[in-house]
Amino acid sequence: NILDIVVNNDLELDGYGACEGTLTCSTCHLIFPKDVFDNLPDKPTEEEIDMLDLAQERAPTSRLGCQII
Ligand code: FES
Repeated sequence: NILDIVVNNDLELDGYGACEGTLTCSTCHLIFPKDVFDNLPDKPTEEEIDMLDLAQERAPTSRLGCQII
């Protein structure tokens, strides 16, 4: 998933993925362009949606990066 890409490549994204993908932080919040969002392989789970509700500047095309495989 996108969290693994960040971690495995030592990308410097400040605070990204604080909960290491356990759906308890929302620091991995990403806003996608609509065409990309529509083509993501999966839909958000209830748990992801609940955590997205706490994300800052949530948009209609928001996802949590750690949940995208
Ligand atoms: Fe915490 Fe994604 S890394 S919710």
